[in-house]
Amino acid sequence: MAKTAKKAAGQARAKAARKAARPAKAAYRKHTAFGGRMVMIGFGSIGQGVLPLILRHIDMKPSQITVISPEDRGGGAELAKFGVTFVRKRLTQDNLSQVLGKRIGKGDFVVNLSVEVASTALIELCQEKGALYIDTCIEPWPGGYSDPSLSVSHRSNYALRDRALALRDKFKGGPTAVIAHGANPGLVSHFVKRAMLNIAKDTGHAVATPTTRQGWGELARDLGIKVIHIAERDTQVSAKPKEVGEFVNTWSIDGFVSEGGQPAEMGWGTHEKTLPRDGVRHDFGCDAAIYLNRPGLHTRVRTWTPKEGPFQGFIITHNEAISLADYFTLRNGKRASYRPTVHYAYHPCDQAIMSMHEIVGKNLVQQKRQRLIVDEIESGIDELGVLLMGHAKGAYWYGSQLSIDEARKLAPYNNATSLQVCAPVLSGIIWALENPQAGLVEADEMDFERNLEICMPYLGPVVGRYSDWTPLQGRGQLFPEDIDENDPWQFRNFRVA
Ligand SMILES: NC(=O)c1ccc[n+]([C@@H]2O[C@H](COP(=O)([O-])OP(=O)(O)OC[C@H]3O[C@@H](n4cnc5c(N)ncnc54)[C@H](O)[C@@H]3O)[C@@H](O)[C@H]2O)c1
Repeated sequence: MAKTAKKAAGQARAKAARKAARPAKAAYRKHTAFGGRMVMIGFGSIGQGVLPLILRHIDMKPSQITVISPEDRGGGAELAKFGVTFVRKRLTQDNLSQVLGKRIGKGDFVVNLSVEVASTALIELCQEKGALYIDTCIEPWPGGYSDPSLSVSHRSNYALRDRALALRDKFKGGPTAVIAHGANPGLVSHFVKRAMLNIAKDTGHAVATPTTRQGWGELARDLGIKVIHIAERDTQVSAKPKEVGEFVNTWSIDGFVSEGGQPAEMGWGTHEKTLPRDGVRHDFGCDAAIYLNRPGLHTRVRTWTPKEGPFQGFIITHNEAISLADYFTLRNGKRASYRPTVHYAYHPCDQAIMSMHEIVGKNLVQQKRQRLIVDEIESGIDELGVLLMGHAKGAYWYGSQLSIDEARKLAPYNNATSLQVCAPVLSGIIWALENPQAGLVEADEMDFERNLEICMPYLGPVVGRYSDWTPLQGRGQLFPEDIDENDPWQFRNFRVA
């Protein structure tokens, strides 16, 4: 098919899906009402995907919303159609309080879906103005991920999280600021709790749903959970092959490359026998996590999802690897007596794998061209869930298996990946409106059942599956391998040498 015909076919497909995604208005439940001003910062794949959901499920008018973004990726005209105000501006350290400050006050809401705008600066401004806040990852100002004058430890997500959480005491009891609440970080913290309760039920642990952090930690320990992977396999594919010199992905390419260039990080479990040869502890903060002295873009681990089976994913650093490990830590005095190892094990779409291969070969110098695939996706699913290992039934995966076709039916302007992010952005906003004075919170501290209730209609099939898979399966048969046969759940066994 000629290039233009192909493009037209993709657009027609997306338009038809958009139309199909518009059931009778009465079918959309309004979860809450909002009367203030809402400022959305950034209007990329997630901003564009979440806006229709906000208008669908929150009783408010489009005229209450302003989008601030430095580029108009075709969004300006769409926004005008919606009746939303568009301000074309790049937020910087110098103009932040002037540009954003005049647009927010007590009871307003900032929805940060940008890259390169420091979350901590936004949180401080919101707290000072009395506005609510949500983001999907803790972003620094430009260069924060790749400043060679910073130590590896200070370029980590551990450090970004530590700096954000330091604002807690300063703004105790202030307006709710939800930190890092997309799919992962975000939704996966709620999946972990649901998965633990399912394992408890299936293994004869009679428990009431814990109501405290200590209670959740004790349940994780009593179930014997040693390792938690955020195990994700994205099989969405465009008919147009990746070209040499371009990065193709199903969500933010800048976001992915930035976090992929950070050190591989993981919550470090108390069952681990030895620190990896390149593993380092931080000399500040909660001590729940370590980092490897290498970027996540070329650090692989073995993992498993129900549809894909065994595969290798990348340890891209994420807030949830640290927050979950920290949340479930039990202490004996100062010493951690229980903590699971937690990290991301991500297989992005195949065209992103080729893009990563290219960028790694050029020592992380990013390609000049980017292609975010949404309308042109031909097929595939995003299988995103949590894999809890070490308990009586071995391994248990719980998560969403959302296909591109179903995503298109459920909501406009989305692919499967973005919808898995946009649903928890929506639920995080609603939760914040329902709990407006909670101060700074992470996903782990929010009501998981309320968030899941709001997200579920947008996640496609959400399934739980047990498996006898371990990272030792099929190992050491043809070549000698550095494995610990006595404990399958050691990080050493998961890591791809
Ligand atoms: N938690 C999760 O599951 C999850 C998943 C996907 C993305 N994210 C995060 O969400 C954020 C948005 O992702 P995306 O896929 O929409 O990214 P994107 O790259 O598609 O869009 C980013 C947007 O930020 C805007 N922007 C860049 N610099 C800006 C500035 N200085 N001021 C204002 N706006 C600016 C861009 O113009 C663009 O509109 C990223 O931080 C990403 O890492 C989180």
